[in-house]
Amino acid sequence: MTKKIFIDQTITTFKKKSIKVDGDKSLSIRFVLFSSLSKGKCSATNLLASEDVKSAINIIKKLNIKIKLKNKKCEIFGKGLFGYKFKKNLILDAGNSGTTVRLLFSLLNNSNHWIKITGDQSLKKRDMSRIIRPLKLFGFEFKDNNKKLPILIKGPKILKPISYTENLGSAQCKSAIMIAALKANGKTKLKCLPSRNHSELMFNNVMKIPTNIYKKNNYEFIKLNGLKEIKPFKYKIPGDISSASFFVVLALLSKKSSLMIKDVNTNPTRIGIIKILNMMGSNIKFLNKRNYKGEEISDIYIKPNRNLKSIKLNSKMNSSAIDEFLLIFLVASISKGISIFNNLGELNKKESKRLDWGIKILKMIGIRVKKIQNNGVKIWGNPNLELKKSYIIKNYLKDHRIFMVSTIAALTLGGKWKIHNSDSFKTSFPNFLKIIESLGAKIK
Ligand code: S3P
Repeated sequence: MTKKIFIDQTITTFKKKSIKVDGDKSLSIRFVLFSSLSKGKCSATNLLASEDVKSAINIIKKLNIKIKLKNKKCEIFGKGLFGYKFKKNLILDAGNSGTTVRLLFSLLNNSNHWIKITGDQSLKKRDMSRIIRPLKLFGFEFKDNNKKLPILIKGPKILKPISYTENLGSAQCKSAIMIAALKANGKTKLKCLPSRNHSELMFNNVMKIPTNIYKKNNYEFIKLNGLKEIKPFKYKIPGDISSASFFVVLALLSKKSSLMIKDVNTNPTRIGIIKILNMMGSNIKFLNKRNYKGEEISDIYIKPNRNLKSIKLNSKMNSSAIDEFLLIFLVASISKGISIFNNLGELNKKESKRLDWGIKILKMIGIRVKKIQNNGVKIWGNPNLELKKSYIIKNYLKDHRIFMVSTIAALTLGGKWKIHNSDSFKTSFPNFLKIIESLGAKIK
């Protein structure tokens, strides 16, 4: 039996005017993995204390790298590019974390024997061919089970540099190639469709690995030379825009209360949801903008507004909102007119089939919605939607974002909700329910 919550009251007025969300998941996982390759002590503050980050930490510890973690402060004692010790019959378990597992593959060269990588039931369903393909060119060998976990991997100490085109727009894939490039004897050249650029910013501005980056014809080109020592570094993790987005939508649809979310990473490659909501008629503002090692940090200010209009989204914006589409669908369902989104096939390759489940949830609450060709979706918005019935969100493969978006739907649209899997949000945003309750929401 999974744990569940009950919600039968909306929230219109918040007890607080300003909140902070947990640290950025993408940056926390990158800090743990990248610093394990440095030569000396690296430290980070405000590390996300979530299950996904714990999976990354446990794996790095198993590779014989010392890690100290206290009150979100993390110290990692790297031993250089080839500093891991690989025990015989080593099994590394990434739990639910796609980012951890996909970046992990590239760390596992120089082992002499096979290492087994595995994960939970959801991760075992996800396709790893996007990583296996480029890593084979670097010289890695695999024993794979139809490109699904568990997978065995081994690789030589020094890798061959490669030239590669990444056509999925996947930051995980791009980052896996960049990590392998660190251990190649020569220049790796990567051409990729745009995706979040945290690895590029960390390589250049934090780890001081000279990484040449330029953009041409909607592609990003990355070139970097391997076998450079990574000096120890310090980092301060900002708030996660993907976590903040649940509160952006809660405040937008709350009817009465405005909200400030402080110290959020508003990197332009991550803020698709804000741009989309503003195109639909909201007026969400980034205040107090500052630059931290290339990342843009802001306070986000949201005023309530249910008077929103539909959108026909250009799919070039998909990657900058990739983790936020369930929330965007929710807002589209109460906006005036028909919204259309295209080319969202990647959504069905996340922790659950999010495109299909998103459509099912909208249907359940009485929205007219249709899956269209090329993995698109058409939503007929209903600005007068007020829910009165009972709704159950079952155990959707432990998908944290389905749990959290359902909670926001219950708190803004009404009805009586029973939402299963109330442990799942701990993978990405452990303080989610605490913050919701601190605003005055009644959760049973
Ligand atoms: C992530 C990249 C995205 C995103 C995931 C985190 C990252 O996945 O969905 O939650 O940290 O690099 P893809 O790179 O597969 O699109």
